[in-house]
Amino acid sequence: DTTTTPDTDAQASDTRAGASRTPTPRTYLMCRPEHFTVSYKINPWMEPSNPTDTQKAIDQWQTLYDTYVGLGHTVELIDPVEGLPDMVYTANGGFVIDGTAYGAKFTFEQRQPEGPAFMDWFGHNGFTVARPAEINEGEGDFLFVGGVILAGTGFRSASDSHREVGEIFGREVITLTLTDPSFYHLDTAIAVLDPRDDDANANIAYLPSAFDERSLAILQTRFPDAIIADPRDQQFLGLNSISDGYNVVIAAKAEHFARQLRERGYNPIGVDLSELLLGGGGVKCCTLELRR
Ligand code: ARG
Repeated sequence: DTTTTPDTDAQASDTRAGASRTPTPRTYLMCRPEHFTVSYKINPWMEPSNPTDTQKAIDQWQTLYDTYVGLGHTVELIDPVEGLPDMVYTANGGFVIDGTAYGAKFTFEQRQPEGPAFMDWFGHNGFTVARPAEINEGEGDFLFVGGVILAGTGFRSASDSHREVGEIFGREVITLTLTDPSFYHLDTAIAVLDPRDDDANANIAYLPSAFDERSLAILQTRFPDAIIADPRDQQFLGLNSISDGYNVVIAAKAEHFARQLRERGYNPIGVDLSELLLGGGGVKCCTLELRR
């Protein structure tokens, strides 16, 4: 059992990096999985012939919601839409920095109506909406770390969206190519551990086998202190996690990742999202950070 109690006051120090781990309050957007099911297959995890239990998905999701609130974070909600079973994976709904929301334009038609639904929500909640011309799946493929945008391509977001996201936010964009269909969004292959807006403490964990050689070389150079993920955790999407700089909410069964995090002075908190894993998503997929 890797579940630990949320612990906001303790600040451990990382003996290796000498950095102190400081949690900072975040704001997240989530969507209650009231219409969750697996009725189509757009990634290798989905199997429409296997039954899903919507109530169980809701209960597990509620635990994730309660965990964030217990850690002192703010969670905002978008209304679920009937017929859009993947809307629970809000990470794909956009990418938000400094009050601007770059809207999503989904690869597969089954999810395409989610794009406008999220853009409406951003517009009504005080964000400047940047409408996308290029195919992109939001924070599923764009990760903000150390002031730069790590951008995934290969399965979902088109590389043209990497140029577009760079123009919108005026930030450096680093293109990373995914090669393993099971890790089809960048947030299934990289976890942002310390997303502060400066280079000093920015760090990640990643799964080397998910990337092509060019991308791997970039990751090794940019993040020499990264945690190298254990492949055994990835059957639970172990890297698909949310960090506030100290507390890291991860899949309950990702025990190797939990140990690696503890060694580095982070506080792993396990949450069981087994039902949502049937749709090919985990903790991070169910969470979109709202940076105002
Ligand atoms: N069923 C969804 C899809 O295939 C899962 C999305 C997972 N989201 C993520 N951020 N990795 O599009």
